[in-house]
Amino acid sequence: MSATITEKYPNYSPGLEGVIAGISTISEIDSDRSSLQYRGYDVHDLAEYGSYEETAYLLIHGKLPTKSELDEFRKLLAAEREVPEAVYTALKALPKETHPMDAIRTAFSVLAPFDPDYEKPATDDAANVRKAVRIVAKAGTMVANGHRIRNGLEPLKPKPEHNTAQNFLYLMTGEEPPAKTVQVMDASLTLYAEHGFNASTFACRVTVATLSDLYSGIVTGIGTLRGPLHGGANEEAMKMLLEIDTPDKAQAWIDDALEGKKKIMGFGHREYKKRDSRAIYLTKVAKELGVEKGDTRFGDIADILEKTMEERKNIHPNVDFPAAYAYYLLGIPTDLYTPIFVIARVAGWSTHAIEQLRNNRLIRPKCIYEGDANLKYVPLEDR
Ligand SMILES: CC(C)(COP(=O)(O)OP(=O)(O)OC[C@H]1O[C@@H](n2cnc3c(N)ncnc32)[C@H](O)[C@@H]1OP(=O)(O)O)[C@@H](O)C(=O)NCCC(=O)NCCS
Repeated sequence: MSATITEKYPNYSPGLEGVIAGISTISEIDSDRSSLQYRGYDVHDLAEYGSYEETAYLLIHGKLPTKSELDEFRKLLAAEREVPEAVYTALKALPKETHPMDAIRTAFSVLAPFDPDYEKPATDDAANVRKAVRIVAKAGTMVANGHRIRNGLEPLKPKPEHNTAQNFLYLMTGEEPPAKTVQVMDASLTLYAEHGFNASTFACRVTVATLSDLYSGIVTGIGTLRGPLHGGANEEAMKMLLEIDTPDKAQAWIDDALEGKKKIMGFGHREYKKRDSRAIYLTKVAKELGVEKGDTRFGDIADILEKTMEERKNIHPNVDFPAAYAYYLLGIPTDLYTPIFVIARVAGWSTHAIEQLRNNRLIRPKCIYEGDANLKYVPLEDR
Protein backbone atom coordinates (compact mmCIF):
# COMPACT_ATOMS: atom_id res chain seq x y z
CA MET A 1 0.00 0.00 0.00
CA SER A 2 1.39 3.41 -0.92
CA ALA A 3 2.07 5.91 1.86
CA THR A 4 -0.45 8.68 2.46
CA ILE A 5 0.66 12.21 1.67
CA THR A 6 1.19 13.02 5.35
CA GLU A 7 3.19 9.80 5.93
CA LYS A 8 5.33 10.69 2.95
CA TYR A 9 5.85 14.28 4.11
CA PRO A 10 5.46 14.38 7.92
CA ASN A 11 6.23 18.12 8.04
CA TYR A 12 3.41 18.94 5.66
CA SER A 13 -0.02 19.83 7.09
CA PRO A 14 -2.74 20.03 4.39
CA GLY A 15 -4.68 23.25 4.72
CA LEU A 16 -1.98 24.37 7.18
CA GLU A 17 -4.04 22.72 9.94
CA GLY A 18 -2.32 23.12 13.31
CA VAL A 19 0.50 25.19 11.81
CA ILE A 20 1.52 28.23 13.86
CA ALA A 21 1.93 31.06 11.38
CA GLY A 22 2.45 34.01 13.69
CA ILE A 23 2.15 35.57 17.13
CA SER A 24 -0.74 37.89 17.90
CA THR A 25 -2.24 39.77 20.84
CA ILE A 26 -5.58 40.45 19.19
CA SER A 27 -7.85 37.51 19.95
CA GLU A 28 -7.78 34.06 21.48
CA ILE A 29 -9.90 31.06 20.55
CA ASP A 30 -10.13 28.43 23.28
CA SER A 31 -11.62 25.45 21.49
CA ASP A 32 -12.01 23.30 24.66
CA ARG A 33 -13.92 25.99 26.55
CA SER A 34 -15.74 27.21 23.42
CA SER A 35 -14.57 30.69 24.23
CA LEU A 36 -13.42 33.63 22.16
CA GLN A 37 -11.76 36.68 23.66
CA TYR A 38 -10.80 39.93 21.98
CA ARG A 39 -7.76 41.46 23.70
CA GLY A 40 -8.63 39.39 26.79
CA TYR A 41 -12.37 40.22 26.93
CA ASP A 42 -15.02 37.58 26.35
CA VAL A 43 -17.02 38.30 23.19
CA HIS A 44 -20.26 37.43 24.97
CA ASP A 45 -19.69 40.33 27.38
CA LEU A 46 -18.83 42.66 24.52
CA ALA A 47 -21.95 41.59 22.59
CA GLU A 48 -24.23 41.79 25.64
CA TYR A 49 -22.96 44.92 27.39
CA GLY A 50 -20.74 46.71 24.87
CA SER A 51 -21.17 47.86 21.29
CA TYR A 52 -19.53 47.33 17.93
CA GLU A 53 -17.84 50.75 18.23
CA GLU A 54 -16.38 49.83 21.61
CA THR A 55 -15.19 46.54 20.11
CA ALA A 56 -13.60 48.24 17.10
CA TYR A 57 -11.81 50.66 19.45
CA LEU A 58 -10.65 47.76 21.64
CA LEU A 59 -9.27 45.90 18.63
CA ILE A 60 -7.57 48.84 16.95
CA HIS A 61 -6.23 50.57 20.08
CA GLY A 62 -5.66 47.47 22.21
CA LYS A 63 -7.68 48.61 25.24
CA LEU A 64 -11.28 49.37 26.16
CA PRO A 65 -12.08 53.07 25.70
CA THR A 66 -13.05 55.37 28.55
CA LYS A 67 -16.40 57.12 28.13
CA SER A 68 -14.77 60.21 26.60
CA GLU A 69 -12.51 58.14 24.33
CA LEU A 70 -15.55 56.25 23.07
CA ASP A 71 -17.47 59.49 22.47
CA GLU A 72 -14.51 60.83 20.49
CA PHE A 73 -14.24 57.58 18.53
CA ARG A 74 -17.96 57.64 17.69
CA LYS A 75 -17.62 61.24 16.49
CA LEU A 76 -14.64 60.30 14.37
CA LEU A 77 -16.54 57.41 12.77
CA ALA A 78 -19.58 59.64 12.16
CA ALA A 79 -17.36 62.24 10.47
CA GLU A 80 -15.84 59.55 8.22
CA ARG A 81 -18.97 57.69 7.08
CA GLU A 82 -19.43 59.42 3.72
CA VAL A 83 -17.59 58.11 0.65
CA PRO A 84 -16.46 59.90 -2.52
CA GLU A 85 -18.93 60.06 -5.42
CA ALA A 86 -16.41 58.08 -7.52
CA VAL A 87 -17.24 54.97 -5.46
CA TYR A 88 -20.92 55.28 -6.37
CA THR A 89 -20.07 56.00 -10.02
CA ALA A 90 -18.06 52.75 -10.11
CA LEU A 91 -20.84 50.78 -8.40
CA LYS A 92 -23.38 52.16 -10.89
CA ALA A 93 -21.19 50.89 -13.75
CA LEU A 94 -21.33 47.27 -12.50
CA PRO A 95 -23.75 44.79 -14.12
CA LYS A 96 -27.03 44.32 -12.20
CA GLU A 97 -26.13 40.69 -11.43
CA THR A 98 -22.94 41.68 -9.57
CA HIS A 99 -22.89 39.97 -6.19
CA PRO A 100 -22.70 42.51 -3.33
CA MET A 101 -19.42 40.89 -2.21
CA ASP A 102 -17.89 41.76 -5.59
CA ALA A 103 -19.40 45.23 -5.30
CA ILE A 104 -17.88 45.90 -1.85
CA ARG A 105 -14.51 44.54 -3.00
CA THR A 106 -14.65 46.96 -5.95
CA ALA A 107 -15.81 49.80 -3.70
CA PHE A 108 -12.76 49.43 -1.45
CA SER A 109 -10.45 49.41 -4.48
CA VAL A 110 -11.96 52.66 -5.72
CA LEU A 111 -11.88 54.18 -2.24
CA ALA A 112 -8.18 53.51 -1.58
CA PRO A 113 -6.59 56.41 -3.52
CA PHE A 114 -9.03 58.89 -1.93
CA ASP A 115 -7.69 58.20 1.55
CA PRO A 116 -5.87 61.34 2.80
CA ASP A 117 -2.99 59.06 3.88
CA TYR A 118 -2.83 57.25 0.54
CA GLU A 119 0.78 58.31 -0.13
CA LYS A 120 2.06 57.29 3.30
CA PRO A 121 4.30 54.22 3.38
CA ALA A 122 2.90 50.91 4.65
CA THR A 123 5.12 51.21 7.72
CA ASP A 124 3.58 54.53 8.86
CA ASP A 125 1.79 53.22 11.95
CA ALA A 126 -0.16 56.39 12.79
CA ALA A 127 -1.40 56.61 9.17
CA ASN A 128 -2.44 52.95 9.31
CA VAL A 129 -4.50 53.57 12.44
CA ARG A 130 -6.20 56.55 10.75
CA LYS A 131 -6.88 54.41 7.67
CA ALA A 132 -8.34 51.65 9.86
CA VAL A 133 -10.84 54.09 11.39
CA ARG A 134 -11.89 55.33 7.94
CA ILE A 135 -12.25 51.77 6.67
CA VAL A 136 -14.42 50.79 9.65
CA ALA A 137 -16.54 53.95 9.23
CA LYS A 138 -17.16 53.57 5.50
CA ALA A 139 -17.70 49.82 5.01
CA GLY A 140 -21.38 49.88 6.02
CA THR A 141 -22.09 52.98 3.94
CA MET A 142 -20.69 51.29 0.83
CA VAL A 143 -22.51 47.98 1.37
CA ALA A 144 -25.86 49.67 2.03
CA ASN A 145 -25.63 52.28 -0.72
CA GLY A 146 -24.29 49.60 -3.09
CA HIS A 147 -27.50 47.70 -2.35
CA ARG A 148 -29.57 50.81 -3.16
CA ILE A 149 -27.71 51.34 -6.43
CA ARG A 150 -28.29 47.72 -7.46
CA ASN A 151 -31.97 48.27 -6.86
CA GLY A 152 -32.07 51.42 -9.00
CA LEU A 153 -32.14 53.79 -6.01
CA GLU A 154 -29.87 56.75 -5.33
CA PRO A 155 -27.36 56.50 -2.45
CA LEU A 156 -28.39 58.20 0.78
CA LYS A 157 -26.26 60.40 3.03
CA PRO A 158 -25.23 58.83 6.34
CA LYS A 159 -26.61 60.54 9.46
CA PRO A 160 -24.05 61.60 12.08
CA GLU A 161 -26.20 60.38 14.98
CA HIS A 162 -26.20 56.79 13.69
CA ASN A 163 -23.88 54.09 14.95
CA THR A 164 -22.47 51.46 12.56
CA ALA A 165 -25.50 49.15 12.77
CA GLN A 166 -28.01 52.02 12.40
CA ASN A 167 -26.04 53.55 9.55
CA PHE A 168 -26.13 50.30 7.57
CA LEU A 169 -29.80 49.57 8.29
CA TYR A 170 -30.96 53.13 7.63
CA LEU A 171 -29.07 53.47 4.33
CA MET A 172 -30.25 50.04 3.18
CA THR A 173 -33.96 50.74 3.79
CA GLY A 174 -34.21 54.54 3.87
CA GLU A 175 -36.06 54.20 7.18
CA GLU A 176 -35.08 54.54 10.82
CA PRO A 177 -34.49 50.95 11.98
CA PRO A 178 -36.39 49.54 14.99
CA ALA A 179 -34.37 49.42 18.23
CA LYS A 180 -34.47 45.60 18.43
CA THR A 181 -33.11 45.27 14.87
CA VAL A 182 -30.28 47.66 15.72
CA GLN A 183 -29.49 45.70 18.88
CA VAL A 184 -29.28 42.32 17.11
CA MET A 185 -27.27 43.80 14.24
CA ASP A 186 -24.86 45.48 16.68
CA ALA A 187 -24.32 42.22 18.60
CA SER A 188 -23.73 40.27 15.39
CA LEU A 189 -21.19 42.87 14.20
CA THR A 190 -19.38 42.51 17.52
CA LEU A 191 -19.30 38.72 17.18
CA TYR A 192 -18.12 38.88 13.56
CA ALA A 193 -15.44 41.54 14.19
CA GLU A 194 -12.40 39.32 14.70
CA HIS A 195 -11.34 35.69 14.75
CA GLY A 196 -7.61 35.07 14.80
CA PHE A 197 -5.76 33.62 11.82
CA ASN A 198 -8.84 32.63 9.80
CA ALA A 199 -8.42 32.41 6.01
CA SER A 200 -9.32 36.01 5.15
CA THR A 201 -7.32 37.55 8.00
CA PHE A 202 -4.30 35.44 7.17
CA ALA A 203 -4.64 36.40 3.49
CA CYS A 204 -4.85 40.05 4.54
CA ARG A 205 -1.66 39.69 6.61
CA VAL A 206 0.12 38.00 3.68
CA THR A 207 -0.78 40.96 1.48
CA VAL A 208 0.38 43.71 3.83
CA ALA A 209 3.52 41.73 4.74
CA THR A 210 4.85 42.52 1.26
CA LEU A 211 4.61 46.18 2.41
CA SER A 212 1.56 46.62 0.27
CA ASP A 213 -1.07 48.93 1.80
CA LEU A 214 -3.98 48.43 4.22
CA TYR A 215 -6.63 48.81 1.51
CA SER A 216 -5.03 46.05 -0.55
CA GLY A 217 -5.16 43.91 2.59
CA ILE A 218 -8.90 44.65 2.93
CA VAL A 219 -9.54 43.83 -0.73
CA THR A 220 -7.68 40.54 -0.28
CA GLY A 221 -9.72 39.84 2.85
CA ILE A 222 -13.02 40.43 1.06
CA GLY A 223 -12.04 38.18 -1.85
CA THR A 224 -11.08 35.43 0.59
CA LEU A 225 -14.14 35.82 2.78
CA ARG A 226 -16.48 35.48 -0.18
CA GLY A 227 -16.19 31.68 -0.52
CA PRO A 228 -18.82 29.36 1.02
CA LEU A 229 -16.24 27.57 3.18
CA HIS A 230 -15.64 30.91 4.95
CA GLY A 231 -17.92 33.97 5.15
CA GLY A 232 -20.09 32.93 2.22
CA ALA A 233 -21.49 30.20 4.47
CA ASN A 234 -24.11 32.50 6.08
CA GLU A 235 -25.77 33.15 2.73
CA GLU A 236 -25.57 29.46 1.79
CA ALA A 237 -26.96 28.40 5.19
CA MET A 238 -30.03 30.59 4.61
CA LYS A 239 -30.55 29.16 1.13
CA MET A 240 -30.47 25.71 2.76
CA LEU A 241 -33.00 26.70 5.44
CA LEU A 242 -35.30 28.17 2.80
CA GLU A 243 -34.98 25.01 0.73
CA ILE A 244 -35.93 22.88 3.77
CA ASP A 245 -38.80 25.32 4.33
CA THR A 246 -40.67 23.69 7.25
CA PRO A 247 -39.57 21.70 10.33
CA ASP A 248 -41.48 18.59 9.23
CA LYS A 249 -39.18 18.29 6.19
CA ALA A 250 -35.95 18.85 8.11
CA GLN A 251 -35.16 15.30 9.21
CA ALA A 252 -35.59 13.78 5.73
CA TRP A 253 -33.55 16.65 4.25
CA ILE A 254 -30.59 16.21 6.58
CA ASP A 255 -30.70 12.40 6.28
CA ASP A 256 -30.52 12.71 2.49
CA ALA A 257 -27.81 15.36 2.63
CA LEU A 258 -25.58 13.28 4.90
CA GLU A 259 -26.24 10.17 2.83
CA GLY A 260 -25.12 12.14 -0.23
CA LYS A 261 -21.99 13.31 1.69
CA LYS A 262 -23.07 16.93 1.34
CA LYS A 263 -21.37 19.64 3.39
CA ILE A 264 -23.95 21.29 5.59
CA MET A 265 -23.39 25.03 5.42
CA GLY A 266 -23.04 26.80 8.75
CA PHE A 267 -21.67 23.69 10.46
CA GLY A 268 -18.13 22.72 11.35
CA HIS A 269 -15.05 24.74 12.12
CA ARG A 270 -11.31 24.24 11.83
CA GLU A 271 -10.70 25.64 15.32
CA TYR A 272 -13.81 24.71 17.31
CA LYS A 273 -14.30 21.01 17.72
CA LYS A 274 -17.03 21.65 20.25
CA ARG A 275 -19.39 24.64 19.92
CA ASP A 276 -18.43 27.87 18.21
CA SER A 277 -18.73 30.29 21.10
CA ARG A 278 -20.26 32.96 18.85
CA ALA A 279 -22.94 30.51 17.69
CA ILE A 280 -23.98 29.84 21.29
CA TYR A 281 -24.75 33.53 21.81
CA LEU A 282 -26.33 34.16 18.43
CA THR A 283 -28.54 31.04 18.54
CA LYS A 284 -30.14 32.41 21.69
CA VAL A 285 -30.64 35.82 20.05
CA ALA A 286 -31.98 34.33 16.80
CA LYS A 287 -34.44 32.07 18.63
CA GLU A 288 -35.73 34.91 20.81
CA LEU A 289 -36.18 36.95 17.65
CA GLY A 290 -38.19 34.10 16.09
CA VAL A 291 -40.52 34.02 19.11
CA GLU A 292 -40.93 37.80 19.02
CA LYS A 293 -41.69 37.81 15.30
CA GLY A 294 -44.03 34.82 15.60
CA ASP A 295 -41.91 32.77 13.18
CA THR A 296 -40.07 29.97 14.93
CA ARG A 297 -39.79 27.66 11.94
CA PHE A 298 -36.07 28.24 11.31
CA GLY A 299 -35.24 27.79 14.98
CA ASP A 300 -37.19 24.52 14.91
CA ILE A 301 -35.44 23.37 11.71
CA ALA A 302 -32.13 24.36 13.32
CA ASP A 303 -32.84 22.14 16.35
CA ILE A 304 -33.32 19.09 14.10
CA LEU A 305 -30.22 19.77 12.00
CA GLU A 306 -28.07 20.49 15.07
CA LYS A 307 -29.18 17.33 16.89
CA THR A 308 -28.59 15.14 13.84
CA MET A 309 -25.19 16.70 13.05
CA GLU A 310 -24.08 16.26 16.64
CA GLU A 311 -25.25 12.64 16.91
CA ARG A 312 -23.98 11.46 13.56
CA LYS A 313 -20.89 13.57 12.94
CA ASN A 314 -20.10 15.32 16.22
CA ILE A 315 -20.11 18.57 14.24
CA HIS A 316 -21.68 21.74 15.64
CA PRO A 317 -23.07 24.94 14.15
CA ASN A 318 -20.71 27.85 13.60
CA VAL A 319 -21.62 31.55 13.85
CA ASP A 320 -22.91 31.65 10.27
CA PHE A 321 -25.81 29.31 11.02
CA PRO A 322 -27.76 31.37 13.59
CA ALA A 323 -26.61 34.61 11.89
CA ALA A 324 -28.39 33.45 8.73
CA TYR A 325 -31.84 33.09 10.24
CA ALA A 326 -31.38 36.06 12.57
CA TYR A 327 -30.73 38.27 9.53
CA TYR A 328 -33.65 36.69 7.69
CA LEU A 329 -35.97 37.52 10.58
CA LEU A 330 -34.68 41.10 10.50
CA GLY A 331 -35.75 41.30 6.85
CA ILE A 332 -32.26 41.56 5.39
CA PRO A 333 -31.83 40.32 1.80
CA THR A 334 -29.88 37.04 1.75
CA ASP A 335 -27.06 38.25 -0.47
CA LEU A 336 -26.17 40.99 2.03
CA TYR A 337 -25.32 38.48 4.78
CA THR A 338 -21.67 38.05 3.80
CA PRO A 339 -21.21 41.80 3.13
CA ILE A 340 -22.48 42.40 6.70
CA PHE A 341 -19.65 40.11 7.81
CA VAL A 342 -17.31 42.49 5.91
CA ILE A 343 -18.75 45.55 7.72
CA ALA A 344 -17.78 43.87 11.01
CA ARG A 345 -14.55 42.12 10.04
CA VAL A 346 -12.84 45.21 8.59
CA ALA A 347 -12.00 46.00 12.23
CA GLY A 348 -10.23 42.65 12.66
CA TRP A 349 -8.49 42.76 9.28
CA SER A 350 -7.23 46.32 9.83
CA THR A 351 -5.99 45.49 13.31
CA HIS A 352 -4.14 42.43 12.04
CA ALA A 353 -2.63 44.46 9.20
CA ILE A 354 -1.40 47.03 11.73
CA GLU A 355 0.00 44.31 13.99
CA GLN A 356 1.70 42.60 11.06
CA LEU A 357 3.31 45.85 9.90
CA ARG A 358 4.55 46.74 13.39
CA ASN A 359 6.78 43.70 13.37
CA ASN A 360 6.89 42.69 9.76
CA ARG A 361 8.51 39.84 7.95
CA LEU A 362 7.52 38.67 4.46
CA ILE A 363 5.23 35.63 4.68
CA ARG A 364 6.51 33.11 2.20
CA PRO A 365 6.02 29.38 2.90
CA LYS A 366 7.21 26.68 0.55
CA CYS A 367 5.67 23.70 -1.20
CA ILE A 368 6.84 20.20 -1.99
CA TYR A 369 7.41 19.80 -5.69
CA GLU A 370 5.94 16.58 -7.08
CA GLY A 371 5.90 17.37 -10.79
CA ASP A 372 8.19 16.25 -13.62
CA ALA A 373 11.83 17.26 -13.64
CA ASN A 374 14.68 17.62 -16.10
CA LEU A 375 12.56 17.15 -19.23
CA LYS A 376 14.17 17.93 -22.53
CA TYR A 377 12.68 21.04 -24.17
CA VAL A 378 11.13 20.20 -27.56
CA PRO A 379 10.90 23.11 -29.99
CA LEU A 380 7.29 24.16 -30.76
CA GLU A 381 7.40 23.00 -34.39
CA ASP A 382 8.46 19.49 -33.29
CA ARG A 383 5.62 18.91 -30.76
C1 LIG B 1 -15.42 25.18 8.15
C2 LIG B 1 -14.81 24.02 7.38
C3 LIG B 1 -14.34 24.54 6.02
C4 LIG B 1 -13.62 23.46 8.18
O1 LIG B 1 -12.96 22.64 7.33
P1 LIG B 1 -11.74 21.66 7.72
O2 LIG B 1 -11.18 21.99 9.03
O3 LIG B 1 -10.83 21.67 6.55
O4 LIG B 1 -12.47 20.29 7.87
P2 LIG B 1 -12.86 19.33 6.68
O5 LIG B 1 -13.63 20.03 5.63
O6 LIG B 1 -11.61 18.61 6.25
O7 LIG B 1 -13.82 18.36 7.44
C5 LIG B 1 -13.38 17.30 8.29
C6 LIG B 1 -14.44 16.21 8.27
O8 LIG B 1 -15.65 16.72 8.79
C7 LIG B 1 -16.67 16.72 7.77
N1 LIG B 1 -17.36 18.01 7.81
C8 LIG B 1 -16.83 19.20 8.19
N2 LIG B 1 -17.75 20.15 8.08
C9 LIG B 1 -18.87 19.57 7.64
C10 LIG B 1 -20.13 20.05 7.34
N3 LIG B 1 -20.43 21.34 7.45
N4 LIG B 1 -21.06 19.17 6.90
C11 LIG B 1 -20.78 17.86 6.75
N5 LIG B 1 -19.57 17.35 7.03
C12 LIG B 1 -18.62 18.19 7.47
C13 LIG B 1 -15.94 16.60 6.45
O9 LIG B 1 -16.73 16.02 5.46
C14 LIG B 1 -14.77 15.74 6.86
O10 LIG B 1 -15.22 14.41 6.97
P3 LIG B 1 -14.31 13.20 6.45
O11 LIG B 1 -13.07 13.28 7.31
O12 LIG B 1 -15.16 12.03 6.68
O13 LIG B 1 -14.02 13.49 5.01
C15 LIG B 1 -15.86 22.89 7.19
O14 LIG B 1 -16.36 22.49 8.44
C16 LIG B 1 -16.99 23.30 6.27
O15 LIG B 1 -16.85 23.21 5.04
N6 LIG B 1 -18.13 23.81 6.83
C17 LIG B 1 -19.22 24.27 6.01
C18 LIG B 1 -18.96 25.70 5.57
C19 LIG B 1 -19.06 26.68 6.70
O16 LIG B 1 -20.02 26.68 7.45
N7 LIG B 1 -18.07 27.56 6.79
C20 LIG B 1 -18.04 28.63 7.76
C21 LIG B 1 -16.96 28.42 8.77
S1 LIG B 1 -17.06 29.67 10.04
